[in-house]
Amino acid sequence: MDVVELEGRLQKLADEAVEALSAVEEKEEAIQVKNRYLGRQGTVQELMSVMREIPNEQKPQAGRAINRCKQQIESSFEDQLKEIAERELQRRIEEETVDVTLPGRKTSAGMGHPLRQVERELIAIFDAMGFEVAEGPEIESDYYNFEALNFPPDHPARDMQDTFVLEDGRLLRTHTSPVQVRTMHAYEVPIRIISPGRVYRCDSDLTHSPVFHQIEGLLIDEDVSMADLKGTLTAFAKRFFGEGTKIRFRPSYFPFTEPSAEVDVECIFCAGEGCRVCSRTGWLEVLGAGMVDPNVFEASGIDADRYSGFAFGLGVERIAMLKRGIRDIRRFFENDVRFLEQF
Ligand code: PHE
Repeated sequence: MDVVELEGRLQKLADEAVEALSAVEEKEEAIQVKNRYLGRQGTVQELMSVMREIPNEQKPQAGRAINRCKQQIESSFEDQLKEIAERELQRRIEEETVDVTLPGRKTSAGMGHPLRQVERELIAIFDAMGFEVAEGPEIESDYYNFEALNFPPDHPARDMQDTFVLEDGRLLRTHTSPVQVRTMHAYEVPIRIISPGRVYRCDSDLTHSPVFHQIEGLLIDEDVSMADLKGTLTAFAKRFFGEGTKIRFRPSYFPFTEPSAEVDVECIFCAGEGCRVCSRTGWLEVLGAGMVDPNVFEASGIDADRYSGFAFGLGVERIAMLKRGIRDIRRFFENDVRFLEQF
């Protein structure tokens, strides 16, 4: 075979390939066609074997012809890919129309649970007064929940806290007061902490839930008096319920404080006039408090002659219900977003 014949056959192959390529509609197909001509066992490759028959002086010309043929097929292949992509884009523009009149999708941002919101508000108020947050376990020993807090075994004060007892003798803490003891064990006086957290009592109605939340407060130093307790709680009530809010102390009993008090705030709904919410008394009970009992100091190795302190415990649900006008405590735990998203 001479170079002229080779050139003729190459040109024929190139024409054939270009025509085949122009007919394909998909990328895969285009690749197949290209390989049929240019691949390892492709037709152009086969023709290369005739190089041996070409006289030496014609070889450069033959080489150029082969390259030209390859380039033609290659560029036709590239053109075809571009065209396929172009067609696909055009198809999508025509088919995948956007209806700009459709209403948009609403994205709803999450938020804190109403109880958490109130808890944070309460923590922020005490934080500003210099109290640090301390935490303790929800599964407690009898020692921390009762004994070290001066509840003698079989004392009736234990009955007031309907306790869930575990099989191994431990219990679900009935209040956050065990954190008082844990803090006294772990830190040196002066102590100034609040302790928010979950507590458990076997009790359930409109205003009681078997799981609820408290915030404990504990301050121990030299010369701490009942006046400091009153001042602290008055400042808290004003910050939380409003500047004009009054509080009052009523005598009460807790084993771990002496004297002990129930603390009421003036009814925020009737300003002390007397209404349904405050049972016509003009006052709302919001927390328990008192001066730390010397027996508690003793159980925790703190010198009761040198130091004194106060403690208080408030129910987060109770305060949240008052502040937000919620009547049924169970709403907090049902996770019905129609309720939750109102806050
Ligand atoms: N722990 C008490 C309760 O849950 C509340 C309290 C705390 C009272 C601290 C006095 C001092 O009933």
